[in-house]
Amino acid sequence: MKVLATRRYPGPAFDELGDVEVGPLEARGDVEAVIVANEPVVSDLFPALRLVANFGVGYDRLGVDALRERGVAVTNTPGVLDAATADLTWALILAARRRVVEGDRRVRAGEWRGSWADGFLAEELTGSTLGIVGLGRIGSAVSRRAEGFDLRVLFTRREEGTPLDELLAESDIVTIHAPLTPETRGLIDARRLALMGDGTCLVNTARGEIVDEHALVRELVSGRLRAGLDVFAHEPDVPAELRELPNVVLTPHLGSATRQTREAMTRIVVDNVLAFERGEQLLTPVHAGV
Ligand code: 8YV
Repeated sequence: MKVLATRRYPGPAFDELGDVEVGPLEARGDVEAVIVANEPVVSDLFPALRLVANFGVGYDRLGVDALRERGVAVTNTPGVLDAATADLTWALILAARRRVVEGDRRVRAGEWRGSWADGFLAEELTGSTLGIVGLGRIGSAVSRRAEGFDLRVLFTRREEGTPLDELLAESDIVTIHAPLTPETRGLIDARRLALMGDGTCLVNTARGEIVDEHALVRELVSGRLRAGLDVFAHEPDVPAELRELPNVVLTPHLGSATRQTREAMTRIVVDNVLAFERGEQLLTPVHAGV
């Protein structure tokens, strides 16, 4: 089976693919499977296409509906990136809440004069309230880690948990772990951001488009909210205003970026391709095709 991969995906599993080519998603009559990292797949370019194996749990940019209509199977990589993404979420919570990056900049600028009284104060983490928007696999991993910090945890999970508006109003830290779908696009809009109390920290390691980015930028520029952001609406573009702000910690979509996790993601991608080739059941189908 001719496989086209948009890059050489990390780890040894990639070498188990037999007939694989690394290259851009340009029109090809012979390609039956493509491996992508949430890049849009225009199925008209690949008349023989039968499988899209996504390197990532989120598949919001692929164009899944059109692929389903064409009978093309789609797989993703759930589960293996929960720990890495939850860990990065905590890195952002701690960094934003305890002003770690601001402190680092101050030291590097030679502005630390060595007195404790120069230390800028942060809000205590212990005893505060963490609101988890989307208690799925990753949200649950974040919640388990919260036990060590003695936090009160609120969550939303489809129709269960605390109603979203109430969660936003009551939390000191809000962290987003929902997939990007038509229902969650723009979920945290200007009205909902305004429900968050002064000094609340918003952390997003899910998808930038779940938050109204313009409204968030306004709240951050005013200094009313803090944030730790790993994802943005138009990656790799980051709103220019954010780069100047002390109350925001920015990372370049690092959620799953550990060696072990990225290699495990490739392992699942390859196992799905090999299973499909052998006519076996897919390991992690988003949908199984025809
Ligand atoms: C990847 C991700 O970096 O799994 C996801 O949904 O966003 C990340 O793990 C991404 O899929 C690669 O583009």
